[in-house]
Amino acid sequence: MEISTTLLPESKRKYGAIKGLSSLPFGLHRSDHMFLVNYKDGKWQNPRIVPYGPIEMMPGAICLHYGQTIFEGAKAFMHDDGEIYAFRVDKNAERMNVSADLICMEQIPVELQVEGIMRLLDVDRKWCPDIPESSMYIRPFMFATEDALGVRPSAEYIFCVILSPSGPYYAGGFNHGVRLLITDKYHRAVTGGTGASKTGGNYTASMKPGQVAKKCGASQVLYLDASNTYIEEAGAMNHFHIMKDNTVVIPEFNDSILRSITSVSMMELLPDLGYKVRQERIAINDFVAQIKNGDIIEAGGFGTAAVVSPVNEYIFDNGDMIKVGNGEIGENTRKIYEAYTAIQNGKAADKYGWMQKVPRY
Ligand SMILES: Cc1ncc(COP(=O)(O)O)c(C=O)c1O
Repeated sequence: MEISTTLLPESKRKYGAIKGLSSLPFGLHRSDHMFLVNYKDGKWQNPRIVPYGPIEMMPGAICLHYGQTIFEGAKAFMHDDGEIYAFRVDKNAERMNVSADLICMEQIPVELQVEGIMRLLDVDRKWCPDIPESSMYIRPFMFATEDALGVRPSAEYIFCVILSPSGPYYAGGFNHGVRLLITDKYHRAVTGGTGASKTGGNYTASMKPGQVAKKCGASQVLYLDASNTYIEEAGAMNHFHIMKDNTVVIPEFNDSILRSITSVSMMELLPDLGYKVRQERIAINDFVAQIKNGDIIEAGGFGTAAVVSPVNEYIFDNGDMIKVGNGEIGENTRKIYEAYTAIQNGKAADKYGWMQKVPRY
C-alpha cells in the first residue's frame, strides 16, 4: 500500500525548540508528524504521514466508552554515523497484532506498521536526540472509532504512530535504583483476562495501585497473581532477579504477563554475558526468603522505556522493608544494562540483528 506524505512547511517545523537541551523529559515532546491508517469497510486504507495534530472522531466512538484501545512502545537511536536505528520494531508490530486479537480488534499487516514507523522516523529524523540515555520513543497505537453504543467489537479503527524525543524514563536514569511495593490488595491483570495485551484498560487498572505505591515512596507495584502467590510484573516492566550463581530469573509468561521484548532480547544476550537465564513461576514467599538468605543478590525490571531498572528495596503493605543485597545498584545489573544499551546505541556489534537502519526514502 502506498503511504502518502503531507509535510509541514519547513518554516513551521519545531525541532529547533528542543535542540541544546542537556536533558530531555521522557514522553513530553512530540515530533512534527504522525502516521495514520484507517480501517473501514473491511480493509485498511489511506496510510498517510501528516502533521501532528488533533484526530476527529464521533462522541459515540467505541474506544471512548469501552476502552477498545491498544498501544506499543519502541525506541530508535542516533548512532555515531549520523544514522537512526530502530530497535526490533517488527517485534512490536507483531505484538500489536497479538494485543489486537486478545481484545477483538482488527490486525494490521506488520509490514505496513514497520514501513509507517520507518518513514515517520525518516521524515522527523531531525528530532532524534543524540544526548546520553536519550532516544526517539515510538508510540504506535490503535483505537476503535465506530460510532456505536452497544458493547461489541468496533468495525472501524484508526492506527496511529507518534514520536517523542525522550530522555531516561526515571529522571536519574540508570543510577536511580527503585523501590517496589509488594501488596496483596491490588492486581493489574488476572488469569483469563487481558494482561498479555497492551490494552489501555490494563494501565487504567494500574493507576490507583501506582498512586498507593508512590505514597509508600515506591515507584511502582510488584504485581502478584490474583491468588497473591506468584510474582507477575514490576509496574510496566517484567520483573527479574539474579541469583548468586549468576542465574537471571524472569517470571514465566502467561496470560496476565506481557511478553516483554526486552526480556525476550535479554534471554538471547545474557548467556553471551556469562549468565544462565530461565523463566519460571516465582512464589513471592520463596523470593522474599531468598533475598533474606542472600541467594538472590540483585533484582530489577526489564522494559523498553526504563530499559533495565535496578530495584534496591521492596516495601510491604505493613511498612516493613527488605533490601536487595546491600541496597546499592549491583554490578551484574550494571553490566547487563551497559551491554544492552551499547548494542542499542551502536557502540557494540549487533550480532543478534536487532537494529534496523532507518532508510532515507
Ligand atoms: C505491563 C508491562 N510489562 C512489561 C513491559 C515491558 O515490555 P517491553 O520490554 O516490550 O517494553 C511493558 C512495557 O511495554 C509493560 O507495559
